[in-house]
Amino acid sequence: MNQLIDALFTQGYYVWDDFLSPNEVAQLRQCLPPEWEKARIGRGEQAVRATSIRSDKVHWLHRAMDAPVLSYLDKMECLRLEANRHFFLGLFEYEAHFAKYERGDYYQKHLDSFKGNENRKLTTVFYLNDSWTVDDAGELAIYDLEDKHLLTVAPKSGRLLVFFSEQFPHEVLPTNSERYSIAGWFRVNGVQNNRLDIAN
Ligand code: OGA
Ligand code: MN
Repeated sequence: MNQLIDALFTQGYYVWDDFLSPNEVAQLRQCLPPEWEKARIGRGEQAVRATSIRSDKVHWLHRAMDAPVLSYLDKMECLRLEANRHFFLGLFEYEAHFAKYERGDYYQKHLDSFKGNENRKLTTVFYLNDSWTVDDAGELAIYDLEDKHLLTVAPKSGRLLVFFSEQFPHEVLPTNSERYSIAGWFRVNGVQNNRLDIAN
């Protein structure tokens, strides 16, 4: 956790290998849902299907899911408290979804805090892909706000990526094999449409 906080301070992102053990990852994989929905861009009524921008499918996490998911959410809660303690971000809640990329799927370069979603402050992406190899592709390429390429992250099993949502455009390169992740966002409360945005 200290390394994560240090890295967020100095560079704004951190790649945490073996965040979960292979056994824990296997248990989380058991929780992958049978049903997926087409990913959307934006929130609420403004959400649009945008296959040209992203072609993955998602399934939102919630507290009624099985124990491994709850345990993952608990770990994210620890991370939330720790981030608040060090960065005074006032992170308030966490939203996350499983994502499934099939062969050829991608997500074009984007910022996670887009219009209508400015209250996303800290992004997490956790990877569930056993024995990933270079041939599988589907890496995450990360840039700075001047569009300089910073790093490319392989979606390896057990790896957690954390970065400040407003500072790093990123893209999922087309994958050659099925690719699973849990993307999540710590949010602050924001006023939207003249109402306090507490619930989703
Ligand atoms: C996202 C995203 C990255 C990944 O869902 O916003 O950028 O590697 N996902 O799955
Ligand atoms: Mn993203």
